[in-house]
Amino acid sequence: MSKRDATPESELTTAILSALQSAGKDLTALTPRDLAPVDQFHNGGTWATRKLVTLTELPEGARVLDIGGGIGGPARTLATEFGQRVTVVDRSTAFARTGAELTARLGFSDRVDFVVGSGTQLPVRTASVDAVLLQNSAMNVADKDGLAAEIFRVLRPGGRFAFQEVMAGPVEPLRFPTPWAVDPADSFVRAPDDARQTLTNAGFREITWLDASDMIRSWVRARIGRSPGTPPIPPLTSFTLPPETCEAAIGNMWRNDEEGRTVTIWAVLEKPDSSDAGVTA
Ligand SMILES: C[S@@+](CC[C@H](N)C(=O)[O-])C[C@H]1O[C@@H](n2cnc3c(N)ncnc32)[C@H](O)[C@@H]1O
Repeated sequence: MSKRDATPESELTTAILSALQSAGKDLTALTPRDLAPVDQFHNGGTWATRKLVTLTELPEGARVLDIGGGIGGPARTLATEFGQRVTVVDRSTAFARTGAELTARLGFSDRVDFVVGSGTQLPVRTASVDAVLLQNSAMNVADKDGLAAEIFRVLRPGGRFAFQEVMAGPVEPLRFPTPWAVDPADSFVRAPDDARQTLTNAGFREITWLDASDMIRSWVRARIGRSPGTPPIPPLTSFTLPPETCEAAIGNMWRNDEEGRTVTIWAVLEKPDSSDAGVTA
């Protein structure tokens, strides 16, 4: 999906471009920064993506798989700011198509491509990538063991898995709708200890594990302070959910966080090299 089709742009692409134009952006000279309010579809925006990638310590030119990469904001950040080559796998055909169209428009199709697929059945060869990124996408995945096993499979030995994930806090239950699920049927938020156990069972070695909730809250407060009222470019949720559900979902995301119902975890893990002590080939 990396080449621009002769077919007309998708409805979602057209809606996003029209919102950008209404906000005064020049559609013939769009930059990743212009798209960031809509295409960094996770709390913390581009700032969180940069932090996570910096924690991962990937070399320039690394081959990265972004699972649940949405319309590609994080992938384009990795490609343009960190010099990496990224394949986005997302279960949504609309997001993958829109991501490919926006990437072509920005001129980065040689560095970022999109595939429709599932995180629990990755259309990717074994041991073929240097790193896997996953930002705010595991909350929709029921089969966490399957997801961890697939990530482990596609990483080369010594490869790294970096994620940001909204996890369960000490207070229950979650308020719905949320941006990732309108009701509990599509929400599979787990406790941090459960996640750690799953990843250890899959064979990963933990490098960094940190509760980023306070940092994300500060980022949100600083943004609200800078731009009171409605942001000129709406978030991606506003293109996919009815307005009242979207407003409730964003409100609940922050209420869940403030009330201790969710936390945001950043982590970096490694697939041990077969030469590491205690690991057999
Ligand atoms: C909140 S968005 C995050 C998008 C992107 N990671 C970002 O931060 O901008 C969650 C994404 O995960 C995708 N997703 C959810 N479950 C998935 C699965 N099992 N396999 C692949 N993609 C999935 C959704 O389609 C959506 O694009």
